[in-house]
Amino acid sequence: MVTRTDTRPRSVAPTDAYIDVGEMISGILLLFFIFFHLFFVATVLFGGRGAVFNTLAEWFETDLIWGISLAHIALAGVAALILAHAILVVSRVPVRLQDQWEVLKRGTLMRHFDTILWFLQVATGFLIFAFAFAHLWHIFTDLPIQAEKSAEGAQGGFLWFYAPFLLLLSIHIGAGFYRIMIKWNWMSRSIAVPVAWFLFVFYMVVAIINMTIFFKMPIEGGM
Ligand code: HEM
Repeated sequence: MVTRTDTRPRSVAPTDAYIDVGEMISGILLLFFIFFHLFFVATVLFGGRGAVFNTLAEWFETDLIWGISLAHIALAGVAALILAHAILVVSRVPVRLQDQWEVLKRGTLMRHFDTILWFLQVATGFLIFAFAFAHLWHIFTDLPIQAEKSAEGAQGGFLWFYAPFLLLLSIHIGAGFYRIMIKWNWMSRSIAVPVAWFLFVFYMVVAIINMTIFFKMPIEGGM
């Protein structure tokens, strides 16, 4: 009797590699966007009553051609990136609730740090997806962007929308950065961990400062 012992490693479907690369590239582009966005909002710290913020927003919304501005281009680009990132990640998540539970149970039982972090990424990412599109809707259905309008929003209750949003985002940024660096072997754990913590704290602190400025900004006519 001939026993076949095929010891060759199972080939990896090329789509798996494409998904990994796509997830990483879209993740890095979103990371760049979100820090760019953080610094844009942070300009509210300069000039009286958000003068620099307003000037930048005006420039951002100036028509380039056919009524299209940088703001429209950013909206389309960011929405497409978020969608692409989510679709790629979701292709790795089991569809059936029973399977999701099983994966969660086994992953937690193993007490494997990187696996648990992946669960955190999926959970925070899922919530951020909802927050991000609600935020884009809120901003783009109420143009122009103006510091005083943002202040009115924060003082009118929007702080309760931004508080969980920026916390989830900070966690997702820190954990996502760490996972990319380790997965692609771009950093050792001893470097990736402190840098990830730094990004988490930095994003949260600056975003809280931004929101505090909006919350405290005096509004014409008073509130
Ligand atoms: C082109 C797209 C975007 C524009 C023009 C924009 C604009 C703004 C503005 C004007 C604010 C100040 C608060 C307010 O007015 O309500 C803000 C805050 C915020 N945005 Fe966006 N946003 C965009 C995309 C995003 C995306 C994609 C995310 C996250 C996935 C995000 C997360 C946040 C967070 C967490 C805050 C509050 C904390 C902070 O000060 O940075 N934004 N955004």
